[in-house]
Amino acid sequence: MNKTALITGASKGIGRELASLFAENRCDVVLVARSERELRQLQEELGSRHAVSVLIIVKDLSLPDAAHSLFDEIKGRGIDVDYLVNNAGFGDYGAFTDTLWERYEKMIALNVTTLTHLTHLYARDWSGRKPGRILNISSTAAFQPGPMMAVYFATKSFVLHLSEAIGNEFKKDHITVTTLCPGPTDTHFGEESKMNAGQLVKNVKIADAGEVALLGYRAMMKGKSTVIHGAMNKVAPFAIRFIPRKWVTRLSAKVMKK
Ligand SMILES: NC(=O)c1ccc[n+]([C@@H]2O[C@H](COP(=O)([O-])OP(=O)(O)OC[C@H]3O[C@@H](n4cnc5c(N)ncnc54)[C@H](OP(=O)(O)O)[C@@H]3O)[C@@H](O)[C@H]2O)c1
Repeated sequence: MNKTALITGASKGIGRELASLFAENRCDVVLVARSERELRQLQEELGSRHAVSVLIIVKDLSLPDAAHSLFDEIKGRGIDVDYLVNNAGFGDYGAFTDTLWERYEKMIALNVTTLTHLTHLYARDWSGRKPGRILNISSTAAFQPGPMMAVYFATKSFVLHLSEAIGNEFKKDHITVTTLCPGPTDTHFGEESKMNAGQLVKNVKIADAGEVALLGYRAMMKGKSTVIHGAMNKVAPFAIRFIPRKWVTRLSAKVMKK
């Protein structure tokens, strides 16, 4: 019998690539996002190419209690998830006070609350019953404060620290938690987050979404803890350990400026 992966934010970008990887490797998939048309196209594509079942669920995961209703819907269909991929997320480039509170509220709800709630629901469901694997998509943004994208960077730090802590707790339960930290990657994110207006994307190599997804997929299957995509992206998280924090924030501000 095939195993089943639940992938949030599977309609585009890294999530879409992850969905293809699971399907290629004979894993049934449950794909969640808001864009029904993109999800249907992907469902047809994967269903026709691979011997797997592809279920799509159209849902706004930034709404209150989205995680619970998703978990209940999947259970109600008799589906037992083996792999949870918390990929859906977005950012917003600009000065802290220029962004409307409603956008931050949705960002925190999606990047932090729903991710944490889904992780909690599935870890409790698996605990003592069966092994499970979780892949949480953080970012290289997780390793330092990010002036001009302060809330997004903070949400990704949350994801990294949460994942590493519970990964340690879950060892005895045979549940692994992997954190994937991509740097700038060629997806809809640059446009959606207005990040293309900043210096960051002009000064670095933009990664291919398929390569980033493959790194995360392989790391999850090996039960690794944290993986950073790209050799250059590994330099900053290492180097900042030896620099005073206020310098780190100043350097980050330079990299993030318009
Ligand atoms: N691209 C980068 O440079 C980069 C770098 C580091 C980390 N990341 C992280 O990688 C993850 C994937 O992003 P991406 O780069 O692949 O961006 P993307 O192409 O914009 O894809 C984001 C995915 O999240 C879904 N999503 C957004 N809001 C949602 C909501 N309210 N409810 C349900 N689904 C929602 C989108 O689907 P719908 O619009 O159809 O809902 C889409 O499938 C994110 O967590 C992002 O923070 C990206």
